[in-house]
Amino acid sequence: MKKLIVGNWKMNGGLLENAALVQALLQGLPRAGVEAAVCVPMPYLGQMQQLLQGSPLAWGAQDASAHEQGAYTGETSATMLRDFACRYALVGHSERRQYHGESDDTVATKAQRALAAGITPIVCVGETLAERQAGRTELVVKRQLASVVHTVGHCTSEIVVAYEPVWAIGTGQTATPEQAQAVHAVLRAQLQAATAHAGRIRILYGGSMNPANAAELLRQPDIDGGLIGGASLKAPEFLSIIASVPAAA
Ligand code: 13P
Repeated sequence: MKKLIVGNWKMNGGLLENAALVQALLQGLPRAGVEAAVCVPMPYLGQMQQLLQGSPLAWGAQDASAHEQGAYTGETSATMLRDFACRYALVGHSERRQYHGESDDTVATKAQRALAAGITPIVCVGETLAERQAGRTELVVKRQLASVVHTVGHCTSEIVVAYEPVWAIGTGQTATPEQAQAVHAVLRAQLQAATAHAGRIRILYGGSMNPANAAELLRQPDIDGGLIGGASLKAPEFLSIIASVPAAA
């Protein structure tokens, strides 16, 4: 299974910056051994389709609506994402859970809608600092993942999971490789109990991943890639993270 490195641009970018960034990424991407993608703001999906079609860099959205269509002002359906040939859609990012009140159920429905449209949902889970300090990390991430597994059923093997401890996002405070691996092992076991094909589900780590800490994180047995925020906005940093994928992976 190739490692997967995904950039989450969050609400950053512009037509000119995006073009320069993806051009630099295309120039520096290795030919094989690793898969890479960028999840961009909705208005730029058409630009990505135009610039990246046929290239080794995949693209995706940062959200997908839980609704199929209709009177949901401001929402973007998974079917619409399909029109722009998105391979991925993040669902349940902690910033969506936190600022937009997304529940585990909503996130699960979003994952289901993405799958139904032929898009791979990258299901984000992760505990807050208070939850970690209260010893509830395992409970929280298992609850978040269980909701998705329950809803998507036999399609569980088609998802990507991203473990993003909320306290590590944008803070520069990365989980240690041991802390991350411990949670990834819990998630792997949960997936194994849910599907016979758990071995092909990638579990990404996200939260202040950067060129200095990526190699050690990506060497952990249950860390199958990364979900990168800040460092994905700078081509040299994102490429350096991609280059740090262990050769044997
Ligand atoms: P940072 O890499 O900026 O900490 O963001 C992580 C993240 O939220 C990716 O989805």
